[in-house]
Amino acid sequence: MKRFKILGTGTALPERVLTNHDLEAMVETSDQWIRERTGIERRRIAGPDVSSAQLGARALAAACADANLEPTSLDAIIVATSTADTPFPSTGCWIQYELGLDNGRPAFDVAAGCSGYIYALEVASSMLTARDYRRVAVVGCEVMSKVVDWTDRTTCVLFGDGAGCLILESCEEERGLLSSNLGANGKLAPILYQPAGGTRTPASEETLAKGLHYVQMQGGAVFRHAVRAMTAAAEQALADAGLGSDDIDLMVPHQANMRIMEACRERLRVPRDKMYSIIHNYGNMSAATIPVALHEARGAGRMPEGSIIALAAFGTGLTWGGGVLRV
Ligand code: UT7
Repeated sequence: MKRFKILGTGTALPERVLTNHDLEAMVETSDQWIRERTGIERRRIAGPDVSSAQLGARALAAACADANLEPTSLDAIIVATSTADTPFPSTGCWIQYELGLDNGRPAFDVAAGCSGYIYALEVASSMLTARDYRRVAVVGCEVMSKVVDWTDRTTCVLFGDGAGCLILESCEEERGLLSSNLGANGKLAPILYQPAGGTRTPASEETLAKGLHYVQMQGGAVFRHAVRAMTAAAEQALADAGLGSDDIDLMVPHQANMRIMEACRERLRVPRDKMYSIIHNYGNMSAATIPVALHEARGAGRMPEGSIIALAAFGTGLTWGGGVLRV
């Protein structure tokens, strides 16, 4: 049994809202196509000077304020992101930099794309239960707008920027991640990736000219794998927790496409009103969708003590994960 409680939650969402109608003036698309194919109506876009760590630091500070504690009391900062501030150091260290934290506690990133938040929760849960960590911040932060090609209608309409954070504390009660499972299939790495800017294809004039620093995705293939893997991961997590669909109080899936979310919900036989959706407002914020959704669900009174939350995610890698959280 893995045990922790949620002490506080927080988000940081850029002020600028980009609507589907705004996108109609940028690429050949329509509000109707985007809404019908994805469920997205608007998304937030960070300013040119704003980084993932800056959003993450704001979300962490908000979560600490919500929990009524100082960031200096955290034993670790774990960050899920695929839009790191720099190749090194980690975005976790940049969050410490932003907050002026020099208490020597560990900070690091988990790179599992849109599945990153479930990966990070699993790592946090292990640290809180098996190791001597008492209080951990788990941040999901992304500035996707800086890695999408704003002339490519097949990707630019999908993504948004934002950050969310949960502050977790170990406890003796039976709550926290009751079960979780993670998976990856690197053979499928090329169907969703950012080709250049790393050591495989370093940045050069040629890579810049070819736009190889932007997200490249085979949308249809990703869609099919996403539905299968997310459903299987959630089913496995429920079975491992000894629970069934009827026990779910709220389903909080990664929010990439409403059609993917709906297909998973139907396969898991979860009633529509039990799935929490924020995709219409924010688009796909990659690793930040789950913590932002959890924060908003909590604020809306949808996560009372003892409630059972089913989590599922899917992303670049390809990676996937499922989890069952008892609040
Ligand atoms: O977090 C994980 C990361 N990514 C994902 O989860 C994405 C998974 N995939 C998807 O969400 C969907 O595959 C998309 C939303 C990306 C695309 O939806 P689709 O139903 O698979 O559409 P499609 O790619 O089959 O395209 C249908 C048509 C095409 O035109 P033709 O070839 O039929 O003439 C596209 O060119 O829609 C066209 N199209 C667009 N039209 C207007 C593609 N993007 C757009 C657009 N506006 N933005």
